[in-house]
Amino acid sequence: MGRALPGGRLLNELTRAGRLGRVRATAYTKLTLALRVVGRRADGFHDLDALTVSVADPHDVVEVAAVPHPGGITFELVGETEGVPVGSDNIAVRAGESLMLRAGRSGHGVRMTLRKKIPAGAGLGGGSADAAAAIIAIQRLLDVEIDAAGILELGASVGSDVPFCLTGGAVRVRGRGEVLDPVELAAGVPVLVAIPPFRISTPRVYAAWDELGGPRSRRIIEAPPAIAGVLPELVNDLEPAAEAVEPRLVEFREALERAAGAPALLAGSGSAYAVMFSGSDERATSLARKVRRALKVPVAASQTVSRGVRLGSR
Ligand code: C5P
Repeated sequence: MGRALPGGRLLNELTRAGRLGRVRATAYTKLTLALRVVGRRADGFHDLDALTVSVADPHDVVEVAAVPHPGGITFELVGETEGVPVGSDNIAVRAGESLMLRAGRSGHGVRMTLRKKIPAGAGLGGGSADAAAAIIAIQRLLDVEIDAAGILELGASVGSDVPFCLTGGAVRVRGRGEVLDPVELAAGVPVLVAIPPFRISTPRVYAAWDELGGPRSRRIIEAPPAIAGVLPELVNDLEPAAEAVEPRLVEFREALERAAGAPALLAGSGSAYAVMFSGSDERATSLARKVRRALKVPVAASQTVSRGVRLGSR
C-alpha cells in the first residue's frame, strides 16, 4: 500500500507532528450496512465487498501517557471487559507495540488505559477500533514519523478491520478489509444498535459460511431515505452462517423488529443488530427506550460519524 490512499487526508490530520504528555482517543463502533462475502481466499480469509460506517455509540476510549518507566506498554482495562483480553494479548496493546517496534521506540514507557463500552463478540469491530485508536494515540504521544499509507499497512497487519477503523466515516471495503474507497454519506444518520445477551466468535461464523457452501443472504432490507442514494439495500451474507452458529439470533431479531417496528440487520458476524429508521434525535431516543424495555438488553441510540477515531474529547 505505497500509494496515496483514500482517507489519507484525515489520517494525515490525525497524525500531525507534536509531542504530548497524554493523549486520549475515542474509538467508534463499526457497522456493516451491506456485507457480501465474495469468496474464500487461499490464506483462509475471505474477500468481502462491504459498505461500512462508523457510528458514535457505543464507543471506547483509549488514553495513553508517557511514563519514565517501565519501558513498553503498561495496560489497564476498565468497563465492559467480558471476553476482552486483559494483558499484552489485547489487540490495542499489540497494535501499539507494532507501531513502537516499527519506529524503533519499543523502549519508551507508555501507560495505556482502555475504557470499554463496545462489547466483544458483537460484530461491532470494538477490538479493531481500539487497535486503530491505540495506533493514532501513540503516534501522537511519541510523535512517530509515519505517513497514512504506513499507518494503514501497520493496521492491516494487526487485524482485517483495522484499516477501516483508522479511516472511518462511510467506506466501501473490499479485499480482506484493506481496499478502502470512501463514499459520500452525511454524518448524523440515526441507527439503533441492539446487543443480545450472547456473543459470537467471528472465526466460527466464517467457518460456518464455508461449511454451508457460501450462502448469499436473501434477506434484503430497503435502506432508509438518508442512505438510499449511496446504498439502496441493506444485506449481510454472514447472517445465515451466524444464525446456524447461534440459533437464538433469529428469535432475538424477530423480537427486536416487532419492538422497533422496523427491520434489523446483523452487524458483521454478530451478535448485535442495527436498526435504521428515519426521524429525529428524539425519535431515536424514544425508540431506543421502547426496545430496551421490551427486550431488556442494551440499546444505543446512535448515529453515523465522519471518522473511526477522534482525538481529544467528543
Ligand atoms: O483479521 P481478524 O483477526 O480480525 O479476523 C478474525 C477472523 O475472521 C479470521 O481469523 C478469519 O476467520 C475471519 N475473517 C475472514 N475474512 C476476513 C476477515 C476476517 O475470514 N476478510
